[in-house]
Amino acid sequence: MECIRGKTSAGIDAAGLAAGYDDVLIDVGTGDGRYVMHVARTRPSWFAVGVDACRENLRKASRRAPANALYVIANALALPKELDGMASKVTINFPWGSLLVGLLDGEPGLLEGLLAIARPGAALEVRLNAGALADAGYTLESGDTRVRRALHAGGFEAGDPVWLDARDLRRCHTTWAKRLAYGRDPRAVCLRGRLGSHSVLRDCA
Ligand SMILES: C[S@@+](CC[C@H](N)C(=O)[O-])C[C@H]1O[C@@H](n2cnc3c(N)ncnc32)[C@H](O)[C@@H]1O
Repeated sequence: MECIRGKTSAGIDAAGLAAGYDDVLIDVGTGDGRYVMHVARTRPSWFAVGVDACRENLRKASRRAPANALYVIANALALPKELDGMASKVTINFPWGSLLVGLLDGEPGLLEGLLAIARPGAALEVRLNAGALADAGYTLESGDTRVRRALHAGGFEAGDPVWLDARDLRRCHTTWAKRLAYGRDPRAVCLRGRLGSHSVLRDCA
């Protein structure tokens, strides 16, 4: 598995680094890694892992990463086996490109990977924005329905959708959320659920 720290990238034993932490967050499609940094700094008992296919995005955050944060360069449609069974929480914030299409189409490589990295009962949060869904040919509502169905087939149960507006997006600790909040179409939806469980939480901002 390729991990990045500033300009250098190397194979690192993620499970070894995460040992001793109560919980592990894996943020798939992490972009510039801001959300991972936020979780690592505000929750010292958590180990936070950001995964993105784009090396350039991760360079800056990885250089400043605290001991309980790690950035991994990987395709979400083929998540590294080294992450298997680690996550007590998986997040996917404002995906685009093949990650969004994978969610909409229930791409087996993506869903099997998400299931594999999750511990039993792991929490899942997926935030989808209207603009990215429109580019993929869906409304916010139809995209939500389609992704929910795909997640269900993949073993994740999502509760009722939580609709997010500009105010909610401003409270999200990701770079893309901030950008969307001040953009042309600040609408999004959050699907929140658990692996194989019907107990879901409501507050998604
Ligand atoms: C709109 S950005 C959102 C970034 C971040 N989650 C945020 O909220 O600021 C979407 C991210 O998904 C990543 N992505 C798209 N397809 C991917 C794939 N197949 N595997 C890994 N990352 C992917 C992109 O590289 C990009 O960083």
